[in-house]
This record gives sequence, structure tokens and C-alpha cells, in this order.
Amino acid sequence: MKRTHSCNALRGADQGKDVTLCGWVRRRRALGNLIFVDLRDREGITQIVFDPAAAPEAYEIAKDIRGEYVISVSGKVRSRGDQVNKDLPTGEIEVLASAIKVFNTAETPPFHLENEDPTDDLRLRYRYLDLRRAHLQKALGLRHKVALAVRNCLDSLGFWEIETPVLSKSTPEGARDYLVPSRVHHGKFYALPQSPQLLKQLLMVAGMDKYFQITRCFRDEDLRAERQPEFTQIDLEMSFAEKEDVFEVGEAVMKTAFKTAGYDIETPFPHMTWQDAMDGYGSDKPDLRFGMVIQNVTEIFKGCAFPPFASAIEDKGSVRCIKVEGGASLPRRRLDELNEVAKKEKAKGIFYVKYEAEGRKSPMKGLTDEEWAALEKRMLPSEGDLLILSAGPALTACKGLGAVRLQLGQELKLIPENTFAFTWITDFPLFQYSEEEGRWVSEHHPFTSPNALDFDILESDPGHVRSNSYDLVINGYEVGSGSVRIHDSKLQDRIFRLLKLEPQQIEDRFGFFINALKYGAPPHAGVAFGLDRLTMLLTGRNNIRDVIAFPKTLKATDLMSDAPSTVSQEQLDELAVAVTRTEEEELQG
Ligand code: AMO
Repeated sequence: MKRTHSCNALRGADQGKDVTLCGWVRRRRALGNLIFVDLRDREGITQIVFDPAAAPEAYEIAKDIRGEYVISVSGKVRSRGDQVNKDLPTGEIEVLASAIKVFNTAETPPFHLENEDPTDDLRLRYRYLDLRRAHLQKALGLRHKVALAVRNCLDSLGFWEIETPVLSKSTPEGARDYLVPSRVHHGKFYALPQSPQLLKQLLMVAGMDKYFQITRCFRDEDLRAERQPEFTQIDLEMSFAEKEDVFEVGEAVMKTAFKTAGYDIETPFPHMTWQDAMDGYGSDKPDLRFGMVIQNVTEIFKGCAFPPFASAIEDKGSVRCIKVEGGASLPRRRLDELNEVAKKEKAKGIFYVKYEAEGRKSPMKGLTDEEWAALEKRMLPSEGDLLILSAGPALTACKGLGAVRLQLGQELKLIPENTFAFTWITDFPLFQYSEEEGRWVSEHHPFTSPNALDFDILESDPGHVRSNSYDLVINGYEVGSGSVRIHDSKLQDRIFRLLKLEPQQIEDRFGFFINALKYGAPPHAGVAFGLDRLTMLLTGRNNIRDVIAFPKTLKATDLMSDAPSTVSQEQLDELAVAVTRTEEEELQG
């Protein structure tokens, strides 16, 4: 009983063919004296009919089969007549069974594989059952096709896929490292790569010219819907290249990936500076599928009598505003919640003005008619609209409004489905001041080249140095990130010093790398795209877990295999590792 077709292969034109299908029983029902089985494999579903008059033996066996049994069925394809199922590609036909073989029985699954949405924990504990769901099977199939197409695309552009080690030395990407103790060198550790950043740059020094790798990266950081502790990057680097060259390759990769999922996208993508993104959308990953752009209305309120605005402007801050079309109907309670949303971004809060049939309504008092008129001239509200304002330091006022904008965009259904808005965000600040560490830290990573126009202010005004880096943002997600690199060892050393790394620390962590830059490093640039986030967007999901076969929970555990888990004392002794406290002890305080 060798399989002849998948469960999604047969159509009306196949009537009369003798076929054998294999798969899982999705559903079995008895109707009159017939038994119907929906047989499922990763490709789709085909209806099988068991008729005692046609095949009594097969019918007897079919009586005992249950959901998720694994079977093979042979029979003849026939028309369903007027019982066509328009929801199924195979809906015109069914297979009249002549023989059945049961490969395996199955216990009743702990959750229904079709209808109910089981709890997350249950899904992950029985991931192999969860993965039988059509949307997950399709997602993994698409992920495979996308990776394959991207590989071929990069090959055609002259890139070589070169593997870099997983047992390696720590590269700073802003997260904690996963460490692997060495058995041979007690007290020493490998770090799993947060990305192959240093190694791909060394491949450029080595003359490999154009490198790529579809590779796993590991980061011990706070997890979210779009963040897993291990994830996959489409990582690339090119020599003698400027950022425009990377954009061109990145856009070719995106075009290929989207084409694979059935979307024709327009390239080149638009660009936006980090400053414009923060000013207009309060985010470095703006969702450009809808408007509601933040406006700077500071000028209007200079010298005004409304204390929150007056004091913000006095403190060199600013007043920003968004117009929510049709937002006047939002109840007070919701506006209070939005105030909290803004505050979470460290904004001082929001103020609002409603334009109702009876006229303007606002708790903001003390503004003159001229000030109101100027605001309305600028924002052009119509009846039914809502203006939301925030005052304070420009960046936090914008971030607060940006978060409010995003929530309202979703809530008021302003975001069109099945559209993709791409943009490259450029000119990020090179450094960010870390209050926690009391020093400047890299916004991206310390190998990013500064904008040549800002070389002179590197040490004197680090906060205003722009970088030669770029992110690819799609629908409000950061899908890729890269930069033109420093290829001069002196400049690299200067950056490390600016980051206040001790000379010994620099030598221990990056000595090998700075040294390599002294042996003829070509100018080079690169980028890495998150394959998980990309596939998530292509499948219309909003959690990367839905495109990863065996993902981890938000607490970085694998519920199915129960990892991480304890190991034997022998293993620890061999590694010369001592456990000083356990999770259980910590929980008990
Ligand atoms: P970056 O750290 O921005 O850059 O990562 C590049 C892309 O990888 C994806 N990504 C993640 N996806 C899922 N889970 C995570 N925890 C996670 N972290 C990152 C994102 C992101 O845009 N070495 C640099 C690249 C370069 O400069 O060439 C780097 O790793 O889509």
C-alpha cells in the first residue's frame, strides 16, 4: 500500500483513478450505513468513504478507527456529486476505500486540534500535536521555501554561505550571553554567538568578499512576542560596499522572500532618518501603514498660561500633538487609560481636546482664543475628531504619543490588513547614555562606523554623533539591522575608549579583532534580517512562536522536553562547575 498522492493532490479530473493515501484521521463519522473519514497530511485533507457493500473488510476496520490514528487507504477516486465542499481544494472528490491499513493507534489528544484554542502551556507541552495544525504546517513550509529562495538569491548575487562556529567568544549585541563551560579548560567558558558579527567582519579581512549565513543566534534577554532566546538571522556582509549597496542586496532579499509568499513588493524602499521617525511617530520602528503623524506645536504655546505647557517649554521641552479622526467618541475612561500608556514611555501624560457637535471640549484651561485658533489651523480638526497633546522633553513627549498612536491605530482599525509598509531607518545616534552604567554605550554595536561628518565631535559631544547604520522596519517591526563598519583599527580603538572600556578589557575581549584590522581590512558593510520575524509577517501572525517548530516560553523554557534541567553531579564535577543556589531555593527565599 505505497502512497500515490498527498491528501491535497486529487481533483475532479482524477475521477476513476486508483490511489493510495496515507495520513492522520482528522475526523471519522458514521452516516447511515457509510463511514466518512477526513484524512489529513501536511498538504491537506481528502474525504474517504467506507461502504460495506463495496469493501466489507475495510468497513469493519474503519468502524474502530479514531481521531489521529495513522492509516493508509487505497481506493478509487469518485465525484462527490452535489455534495461538493467548496472550502477544500479536494472538495469535488472523495476516495471510495477498497482497503485500509492501520499503522498506529493514537490516544485522545489533550486538546482539540481543529477548533479550540488550548492554553499556551498545553500547546507547547504537546508541540508535536500542535504542529499538526494547518496554520503551523503551512508556516513551517513557507519558512523552508523562504530560506531556500533567499539562499538562491544571495548565491546569484555572488554571496557564499560560510559557517561560523557556535562555540565561540562573546560578541556584544546588548544582551547577556549563554555560556558553555569548558571541560578541558576549567574555569573557562565559550559563549554562544549573539550574532556572527566579529566573525563575518573577519571573513571580510580574509578576502571572502561577500558572505552570508542563515544562522542561529542566542541571546539571554527579556522575551516578548517577537523575541526568542534563540532565533535565526539571514546574516550578510560585503566588502568594498557602502550602505546603498547593502540596501540593494537587502531589497533583493526582501523581494524574493515576499514573492515566495505570493506578494509582489515595490523596491527601492523609502528611507527615514531616526530623528524624523522619532518626531513623526515617536518610535524608531514606525508603523507606516497608517497616518496620525505627530506634529510639533511648541511655537503655538510659547508664553501660554496653561502651566503644563508653559513649564515644559521653559525647560527647553516641547509640545506635540496628534489628530485622531473620529476619536471624540472615546470615553473619559479610555482617555485615562491612554494617559497611562503615554506615561509608560516616561511621557508626563496626555491632554485632549474633543470636537463635538456642541463645539470644543477640553480640560485644558487658560489658553487664549489666538492659541486655540493657531492649534486648529495647524491640526485642522473636524467635528467628531480628537486632538491629543503631550508636553515635556521632545523625545519622551513623542514616545508617549507614539505609543498612544499605535494603540488607537489598532483599536480604531486604521491599519489595513495584508499590506506591508517598508522603510529603512537611518542616521541613528551612535551612542546612548546609560544612567545605570554611568557611561556612553553603543546604540547598535561598537563596530558601527560613525557618520564621517561627525568625526570631529566624537569625544566632545557623543550624544549628537550619528552612526552609519540602518534598520529595516516593516509594519512597525524591526526586521533587519546593519551598518557600515569601522575598518580602521585606530578608529575602532578610539570608539572602545570612548565607551570607557579598560585597555585590558579591550585587549582581552577584542584584541584579536583590532589586531586583524591592522592586516589590510577592506571597507565593508552588512546587515542581518530576522528570519523568524520576516516569516511571522509573511504568515500574518503576531508571534514568532508560530513560525518556529520548537519555541520557548517567555521564561525561556522548553515545556516539552523540560529544558533547562538539572544535570548530574558527575557532569558538574567534570566541568569544575558548582551550583551556588537553585531556582527552588530562591523561590523559597
Ligand atoms: P540585531 O541585534 O539588530 O543586529 O539583530 C538583527 C535582527 O535579528 C532579529 N532579532 C531577533 N529575532 C528574534 N528574537 C530575538 N531575540 C532577536 N534579536 C534580534 C531582528 C533584528 O533586526 N550583528 C548585527 C547585524 C549587523 O550589524 O549586521 C545584529 O545582530 O529582526
